[in-house]
Formats: sequence, structure tokens, C-alpha cells
Amino acid sequence: MERKEIIDKYERKPENILLILHEIQENNPRHYLAEKDLKEVAKHLSLPESFVKGIASFYSMFSLNPRGKFIIRVCESPPCHLMGSNTILESLAEILNIGVGETTEDGAFTLELSSCLGVCGVAPVMMINEEVYGNLTPEKIKEIIAEKRREI
Ligand code: FES
Repeated sequence: MERKEIIDKYERKPENILLILHEIQENNPRHYLAEKDLKEVAKHLSLPESFVKGIASFYSMFSLNPRGKFIIRVCESPPCHLMGSNTILESLAEILNIGVGETTEDGAFTLELSSCLGVCGVAPVMMINEEVYGNLTPEKIKEIIAEKRREI
């Protein structure tokens, strides 16, 4: 969906700002908010651009830089930590050759951390875009990444 189409769906109320920004970012294949997006949202809601930018910078769910097609979020909350989330993170960093907060050169993967994803029963856990993966092991990680690479 185009930016304008998304923005026009929402009433011109400031309280819609998070919903609009979220939907625009979701519709961007690189999962980020461009300068132009912030400008248009500010215009639609009659808010200063600096305010919209402030909101987009404040919330960690938003990115102002292009990210990978697949955003990997590894849970780092205590239950996952106890079940070895560090090993999972190390495996991912090694396979993808990037650190936390970085994106692979081909623009395919971004590696991020997350707090509890609400499925501690299957710790350690990660999400790739909207999909949850649990009971992770380094072997499973290899398979999952190989599968995602085939989808590119
Ligand atoms: S602590 Fe990781 S899913 Fe809850």
C-alpha cells in the first residue's frame, strides 16, 4: 500500500500517530520510516515535523534507517537468557557475519534484541518479522536461516 493511501485512512487526530507510523513502516520492505514519511505524517496531523521525528526516534519499534527484509529479534529476557539465548545470538552473529543492530550487506537480515516475546515456555526464542521460533539450538538456527535465504 502506498504511503498516501495509508495516511488518508486515518482521521487527522494526533493520537493516530503511532498507528500511522507503524503501518507505514510495516508496508516498507526495508522496515523503516523515511524522511518523506515523517513529513507527510506531520502534514496530515498538523504536527511539527520535529515532533513526529521525536516520536519515531523514541520508540525502539521504529527505525529511521533501512533494515533487512528479515528482522531477527532475539529475546534477551531472563527466562530465555537462562535457556541459552546468548549461544543463539552468537550463532546468528557468526552465520550472518553481523552484530546486534546491524544489517547484512545484501539487505536480507537485521539482527536485533527484544525483551520477552510472551512465549517463555519454549525458550530460547526469537522472532523473524512476525513469526515466532522457539526451542532454538544452533543447529535449528542454521536450518532457519538457510530456509529464509531461499525465500530471498
Ligand atoms: S523470556 Fe523470552 S519469551 Fe519470555
